Amino acid sequence: MTAAVNPAMTRVVARAPGRVNLIGDHTDYAGGLALPMAIDLGTTIIGHRGGDQLRLHSEQFRTTMIEALPIMDTQIEPTWARYVAAVATEMRVSPGFDGTITSTVPLGAGLSSSASLEIAVALAIGFDGTPMELALLAQRSEFAAVGVPCGLLDQFSCVFGCDGHALLIDFNASSIEPVPMPENLEIIVVHSGIERTLAGSAYAERRAACEMASSIVGDLASCSVDDLSAVSDRVIRRRARHVITECQRVLDATSALRGEDAIAFGALMNESHRSLRDDFEVSTHEVDELVGHLRLIPGVHGARMTGAGFGGCVVVACEPGAIVDPTSFTGRGWKVRASGPARVELLEA
Ligand code: GLA
Repeated sequence: MTAAVNPAMTRVVARAPGRVNLIGDHTDYAGGLALPMAIDLGTTIIGHRGGDQLRLHSEQFRTTMIEALPIMDTQIEPTWARYVAAVATEMRVSPGFDGTITSTVPLGAGLSSSASLEIAVALAIGFDGTPMELALLAQRSEFAAVGVPCGLLDQFSCVFGCDGHALLIDFNASSIEPVPMPENLEIIVVHSGIERTLAGSAYAERRAACEMASSIVGDLASCSVDDLSAVSDRVIRRRARHVITECQRVLDATSALRGEDAIAFGALMNESHRSLRDDFEVSTHEVDELVGHLRLIPGVHGARMTGAGFGGCVVVACEPGAIVDPTSFTGRGWKVRASGPARVELLEA
């Protein structure tokens, strides 16, 4: 992913996409399936390698982090800099960096702003390994920065993004298969207006519930709903039922995409939302209302919460042109395209 050039002479441009998960949420850490796509909203870092400190200015926050290397503590201010510090610590980076971060991924919206930042930082400061190693580094960094025991959905989407394709990911097998996005389907993302932070959410508690279920019935991704009769706790059973049924919906949605069956695809998204709302209980009243409103628009096939939940964005699958202005609902919305992977360019200064 990097080329060998004199670092002090090199201008670095690193770009990492955000992602929208079309279907398959809260399945990654349970070894299940998901169908996300990398999107044309992302993080860009431009700067120069060299020196013995990390100096990064965030255009979004209008603040600058300056940290001497090696970084000893990731719990620094400003808060966004914790992700940068965590990546640098994980990489045990030697050369410093001086540059600027710009991002078009809304924060805390379920579109992977933090994985996009972490991966852009890693590439900018000289990560030199495979995409899989990069994804794992970003996952470790997320945990070090904010203590979230996330899966690999966001990181895989970012490093394996494929132009014009969604990605069918099997987290047990660590396999990723690009699935062409049909021309008859447009993907719109609408912000609910509710910001969420993963750290402050019940994410870890949901993950623990899945682990509890799997300690009783085995790998959830290969269980059937009938197997859950062995789970006596009603809440744990519902959490596990979400994972099992969601994995099947991912497979069905992949077939629908391949068959260009937009109606079936939308119906599966709607069912996924119902399961995340009722069984997994990670939706909110505002998100449910927005989903209901969007589904009434002619040409909309389906709408669901996306990402961890507890607020954030809704993803909509619709006929091309059905939603002319994605910002007209809450002030923030985007028509998104399936995009390519994170990358870095090294230019002679
Ligand atoms: C967050 C996590 C992912 C995944 C989703 C829910 O985005 O970072 O690993 O668990 O929530 O699907």
